[in-house]
Amino acid sequence: MSKFPKNFLWGGATAADQYEGAYNKDGKTLSSADILPLAGNGRKWALSHPLAAAKKDYGFYPSRTSIDGYTHWKEDLELFAEMGFTVYRMSVSWPRIFPKANMDKPNELGLKYYDNVIRTARKLGMEIILTIDHFDTPFWATKKYNGWVNRKMIKEYLKLAKTLFNRYKKEVKYWITFNEINALLNYPFFAGGIDISKCDNPLEARYQAAHNQLVASAEAVTMGHKINPNFQIGSMIAGVVNYPNTPNPEDALSAQQTTKKSYFFPDVQARGYYPRYAQKFFDKKNLKINFEKGDKAKLFNGKVDFVSFSYYSSSDVSTDPKIKTKKNAGNFSITSSKNDGGTVTWDADNTVINPYLKTSSWGWAIDPIGLRYLLNDIYDRYQKPIMIVENGIGEYDVLNKDNHIHDKYRISYMKDHIKQMALALDDGVDLRGYTMWGPIDIIANSTGEMSKRYGFIYVDRDDNGNGTNKRIKKDSFNWYKKVIASHGEEI
Ligand code: BG6
Repeated sequence: MSKFPKNFLWGGATAADQYEGAYNKDGKTLSSADILPLAGNGRKWALSHPLAAAKKDYGFYPSRTSIDGYTHWKEDLELFAEMGFTVYRMSVSWPRIFPKANMDKPNELGLKYYDNVIRTARKLGMEIILTIDHFDTPFWATKKYNGWVNRKMIKEYLKLAKTLFNRYKKEVKYWITFNEINALLNYPFFAGGIDISKCDNPLEARYQAAHNQLVASAEAVTMGHKINPNFQIGSMIAGVVNYPNTPNPEDALSAQQTTKKSYFFPDVQARGYYPRYAQKFFDKKNLKINFEKGDKAKLFNGKVDFVSFSYYSSSDVSTDPKIKTKKNAGNFSITSSKNDGGTVTWDADNTVINPYLKTSSWGWAIDPIGLRYLLNDIYDRYQKPIMIVENGIGEYDVLNKDNHIHDKYRISYMKDHIKQMALALDDGVDLRGYTMWGPIDIIANSTGEMSKRYGFIYVDRDDNGNGTNKRIKKDSFNWYKKVIASHGEEI
């Protein structure tokens, strides 16, 4: 079996709105996540009616306080360094840096926070992968533009990208333009600040927003390379593996078509042009996507340096109407915890439960081999360096009487996935790094829950925001430390 190269990047990933809190400190305004209540308290409805939801008072908003990373960042970085992280993937909160539309200058107080985090992480020996937009559209963008449906968002985004590229050109080498850009089709509000209930043609709105983000991403790549030719700027999708449920060709075809909906994004970002199947799809559905003069050249010039993805689980696709109703869960069809009563479900085409796989407590199928499959699939398609920038298991962790968390399920999940990464290297995949999600417990994106924990570090906080925010190492902390120290040999 291949060994991990000595310069392989090992670390973890978080996102600003799930980590920082401090939603109104130092000039920050609301981000899209800040108006969402917990699952079970109207989150699903709010996601598709955000403008109406913002007028309600839900009492508690998980991301407004998150785990207070804004205060604890130094302690957290030191814990990451203690595990030996050589990379930390993080994102910025857009409304912390540009609290209003059309601002000429960024908010210095907001940037100061990132100066501290980025410079300290570098001093502690970590590379940074900076995600420019990780589901953090400012809420002003929803009110003023209805988010990314409006092309004016490109200018606003490029202002943010330019500010970050210039400010951190010495410290940050790796950049991701948009987190899980394919999520726009399923999560128009999270991924694009779009109130879909206000769109006359919701499908067209999604693809128009996709086009606008793809142009913005390409322009950012071109701009970034001018600012520092050594920048490595990547695309990112929520990684999808769709297996046909049976050898029925209809199932195989359906699985292939479902996958293409996600590959559409890196197809454009890595190759620099729209695939023919996309144009055919627009024609068949009679979607009128506004391409401006010059967009083609922008897309072609702004090809990414690497491709990256998150990977949690796989899907099983069936066209058999008798079993269609048994929906698979995963990060495109997310169910909230069984005990909070609320379900957040996005449409993943024809997915069913895979009888060969066990699931997490949230119903997400655990499929390490799917990771090797995906790595091969993506590498064969683009032939560019790859980073896995999210992977992990959300579980209930129990703090024992002795104040320990024995999270052997997390160790086992990660061990099995890391083994498959090594096998993929052996297959010839050019895999450069792994940032698991999220090294410290943060609030869940889909549900806002704190009880869905991914971390090596436990945070004393519950779903309703009660707790001291104290950080406690879990058993997996020392396990990952060993993995990194041994360059993936001791798992
Ligand atoms: C990805 C997102 O979709 O999945 C993260 O990029 C998110 O922001 C992660 O946290 C896990 O999903 P969840 O809903 O369990 O937090």
